[in-house]
Amino acid sequence: MSAFLGLQCHLCKTVFPGEASYVCDRCLGPLEPIYDYAAIAVTRAQIESRPKNLWRYRELLPIAGEPRTGFNSGFTPLVRCTRLAARLGVSELYIKDDSVNHPTLSYKDRVVSVAATRAQELGFRVLACASTGNLANSVSAHAARLGMECCVFIPDNLEPGKVQGSAIFNPTILAIAGNYDDVNRLCTQVADRFGWGFVNINLRSYYAEGAKTLAFEVAEQLGWRYPQHLVSPVAGGTLLPRILRGFRELKQVGLVDGQLPKIHAAQAAGCAPVVHALQNGLEAPELVRPDTIAKSIAIGNPADGHQVLESVRGTGGSGAAVSDEAIIDAIQLLAETEGIFTEPAGGATLGGAIDLIQRGVIPPDESIVVCVTGNGYKTAEVTRERMKAPVRLSRAFRDFEAWAATRDAEVSRAT
Ligand SMILES: Cc1ncc(COP(=O)(O)O)c(C=O)c1O
Ligand SMILES: [Zn+2]
Repeated sequence: MSAFLGLQCHLCKTVFPGEASYVCDRCLGPLEPIYDYAAIAVTRAQIESRPKNLWRYRELLPIAGEPRTGFNSGFTPLVRCTRLAARLGVSELYIKDDSVNHPTLSYKDRVVSVAATRAQELGFRVLACASTGNLANSVSAHAARLGMECCVFIPDNLEPGKVQGSAIFNPTILAIAGNYDDVNRLCTQVADRFGWGFVNINLRSYYAEGAKTLAFEVAEQLGWRYPQHLVSPVAGGTLLPRILRGFRELKQVGLVDGQLPKIHAAQAAGCAPVVHALQNGLEAPELVRPDTIAKSIAIGNPADGHQVLESVRGTGGSGAAVSDEAIIDAIQLLAETEGIFTEPAGGATLGGAIDLIQRGVIPPDESIVVCVTGNGYKTAEVTRERMKAPVRLSRAFRDFEAWAATRDAEVSRAT
């Protein structure tokens, strides 16, 4: 059973019932779920015996009844990366690989599993979202499985793979002439007037909680301990603060002990309001107009930007902004060393980690987790120009032999 009690304002601490509300009507602060932590008596062994999905931490998730979807979402691999670590000169490096999250290959399957379940509990018929692509994919798939009506709003310049990744589930797709921040503004008006369940607007308090499960898994997969550093991408700012919240909650319910990790924020240089605020000591991020190949994290006005700054500063973390060129380099490096194909959001995150290591912000002998949150197969065009063309041969064996001989010659010249 969940120990979920209701919602509370992050700033003034006023308590509200667990409805589809997301801002405090007294101070406009964000609302977040609260739990009866004292009543949570779950053990490591109990959790380990449960199915390998995000609901294995259900006591700490904001639903009242049984999960409705997400039975194969979450519990993604934590990959120990020895070849990549050697290239970067560090001793203990892991990729948390949400590029293979089920069913739509991004971290968004976590947040949507929780928001869609709560949407059904609250009686919504239409599931909706404002999205840079991955969220729309996930909302479309989960709505299809639940038999809910679905309407997703996206900017009209997304990669074809991202659009197709929603369209196949047959939602209504509204491609809006504008960037994500324009789309989000429109959706806030629609959510107010149409009574639809927007996972990242009126259901945001529940949606955001799903992101904590990434932290729960990292700690469990490390043998119930914290890493020393974690690098997270930042767009709207949902994930990063909830990773910290998840790590804290594990301590609160007695599952993990020790020093909390330093949480670092990675953004694309072409859209880095949070990193800019960190580097310049600003109290809040300043709005920017995005210009980057990393479209999934191109959000110039992050809804939870303030919470990101609080979390990074509170843990002694730092920020890194990564050029488009360095994003592509990192995508390629990860693929060549570890066999993981990420999209630009993952390239920005790994690129950020590399920058922090090179600047000495992350010492080489400390444990590091890098969150890879999306899959490269959806954004193939980003790396296509760099790829070697396939060797074209006839069907004849002698042609293969001739090619193999030139290859042997090339190899011996190189060694
Ligand atoms: C692949 C990927 N990674 C990371 C993010 C970061 O999102 P946020 O900071 O809103 O949690 C997004 C989404 O917007 C995304 O699509
Ligand atoms: Zn308040």
